[in-house]
Amino acid sequence: MIALPSAVVRTGAALSGLLLVLFTLVHLGGLIPAVLAPERFEAYASALHTSPWLRPFEIGLAGIAGLHVSLTISKAISNRRAGNSAQLSSRRDAPLAALASRSKGIAGLLTLAFLVVHLNQLRWPRPAAGQEGAVLSSVLQQPLNAVVYAAAALVLALHLLHGAEAAHRSLGWLSPTNSSALRTGGRLLAALIGGGFLLISLSLALGGAA
Ligand code: HEM
Repeated sequence: MIALPSAVVRTGAALSGLLLVLFTLVHLGGLIPAVLAPERFEAYASALHTSPWLRPFEIGLAGIAGLHVSLTISKAISNRRAGNSAQLSSRRDAPLAALASRSKGIAGLLTLAFLVVHLNQLRWPRPAAGQEGAVLSSVLQQPLNAVVYAAAALVLALHLLHGAEAAHRSLGWLSPTNSSALRTGGRLLAALIGGGFLLISLSLALGGAA
């Protein structure tokens, strides 16, 4: 097996993570009409499904997700081998950030497990044309699914809270002058994405439009 230089692993893990964040933002934006404007959502879904760039996009997305999982696992293994088992257990001023750092592995694995369940429900097979909203509502209106989707949104927020800081550190962007702005931006982004998925899951579960 070829061992990649650690700078390549760190940069690759960070960039692939940032691209996945971009996808979650676009995905979240695409889901808002499912709650607020169901007809627009149905039109958006059929335009998306007939688009010629959807298949290459999906293949690229799967590749980026696979790269992110393998590079972060490889980074964790080499950190462990190097004896770096330090845990952020007591950052008194930022207990949530400490929790996010401690739980980064498990939060990543839970997000991956959620994706397998999620894609099995909504992507394989894809709902028939005109049925996207109805299928979405019927999935979210099953109580167990509502709990799984709400929990996944919270876990994703925790994972993003850690990821935002780790990515900037790995890419060498974090400096004493910008650290506070980057941390605030990372927290806001994690809250926006996690909170957005949570609100959409709960609205659909409670019978909001779709
Ligand atoms: C409120 C929560 C969510 C809802 C209601 C939702 C809904 C959907 C729907 C309807 C699809 C099928 C799209 C299609 O027909 O092509 C889909 C696909 C997908 N979702 Fe979600 N989603 C949610 C959360 C998430 C989260 C948190 C992630 C990532 C961590 C995610 C990742 C994906 C991926 C990767 C696809 C496949 C995209 C593709 O094939 O192009 N979803 N989602």
